[in-house]
Amino acid sequence: MKFSYVNPTNILFGKGQIANITNIIPADQKVLVIYGGGSIKKNGVYDQVANALKNHTWLEFSGVEPNPTMETLDKAVELAKAEGVEYILAVGGGSVIDGSKYVAAAACYEGEGWDILLGKHTATKAVPLGAILTLPATGSESNSGAVITRAATKDKLPFFSAAVQPKFAVLDADVMKTLPERQLVNGLVDAWVHTCEQYITMPTSALVQDGYAETLLKSLIVLADQYDNRDNDAWRENLMWTANQALNGLIGSGVPQDWATHMIGHELTALFGVDHARSLAIIQPSLLRNQMTVKRAKLEQMGKNVFGLEQSDDLAERTISAIEAFYHQLNVATALTDHGGDKAATINKIIAQLESHGMVQLGENQAITLKESREILEVAVQ
Ligand code: NZQ
Ligand code: ZN
Repeated sequence: MKFSYVNPTNILFGKGQIANITNIIPADQKVLVIYGGGSIKKNGVYDQVANALKNHTWLEFSGVEPNPTMETLDKAVELAKAEGVEYILAVGGGSVIDGSKYVAAAACYEGEGWDILLGKHTATKAVPLGAILTLPATGSESNSGAVITRAATKDKLPFFSAAVQPKFAVLDADVMKTLPERQLVNGLVDAWVHTCEQYITMPTSALVQDGYAETLLKSLIVLADQYDNRDNDAWRENLMWTANQALNGLIGSGVPQDWATHMIGHELTALFGVDHARSLAIIQPSLLRNQMTVKRAKLEQMGKNVFGLEQSDDLAERTISAIEAFYHQLNVATALTDHGGDKAATINKIIAQLESHGMVQLGENQAITLKESREILEVAVQ
């Protein structure tokens, strides 16, 4: 193991914590509050933010859409530059937080913001930002990644920069009370796949990373089993904390990581508008079966330690079936059927996008080339 690990985001967890941003955001800094389609206006979060910022100078930018687009965000970049914004407060789910990271970095850059996604510009400077999380799923509230879409070309690409890691994140699970079912389930599934991407690779001797990943997976199974009890504080708080821990950098430190499911899934979202989490459930079972030779040992470990399955020759296969059953239990589909075209044309479109985005050697062994991606899609697309 060799790694460098820091997670500098100050987590404010629990009821009433939104009020404490008053003291965390420096009083003399001009704040840009960024949010999405308006859910925060209906559930009281906006009012709590306005109250907490009553002694600050602040302005707002709304309308960041799910799977945030460069086209929308560039308007916020212009506003941030024109107004001399000194602090950004993202209030929303992964899309708003990711979008705010893009704004924070692009506002400190003279060129086109999209250069950051193309790797033409490395964002080493950004406007400081904080987050109030309203949808636990992505972990974006305390990591340094963001995924942005260029709508015109249907490109959905990630970037990473320590400069956009939130200074603080408020995790008050009360804000989840207004989440639609679909988004709650998305949160469970996204957190699940984040853990899997950093765990189902090859055996390592990393007891802490493996053990913690298994704990997170078991927590998500408990939450799925107790889904009928989701309208209580403990259920909500456990999901919020599990999703946060699944992608805050810890379990991935010093161990191999996969992320192929995510990279292929992003193309499904960009082309067909599939929710991020649901794109993962479509790709992952087929991908695991395709990569069985290299993933068998880790799938067996997961079968035993996470699902409590008995040893057998087909333990790895049964583990994948158990993963599929986890999705089906949540009414999440494991195949793409809604693509508005014939199967062959759909697969060709996805492969062409993977190729144009340089996603031609994915996975922990860089062994998922376009050939394997096509095989995976032959099963995942119906
Ligand atoms: O726009 P508003 O009105 O806020 O409504 C949102 C949106 O329609 C709604 N919502 C959020 N909180 C709510 C609420 N509705 C009622 N009550 C609340 N408390 O939920 C809808 C979906 O929100 P969105 O932010 O899009 O969902 P999610 O958090 O799943 O984020 C998905 C995005 O994150 C990226 C994905 O690619 C996708 O673009 N990811 C970011 C990652 C990261 N930065 O580390 C990693 C992930 O793997 C992922 O790729
Ligand atoms: Zn994800």
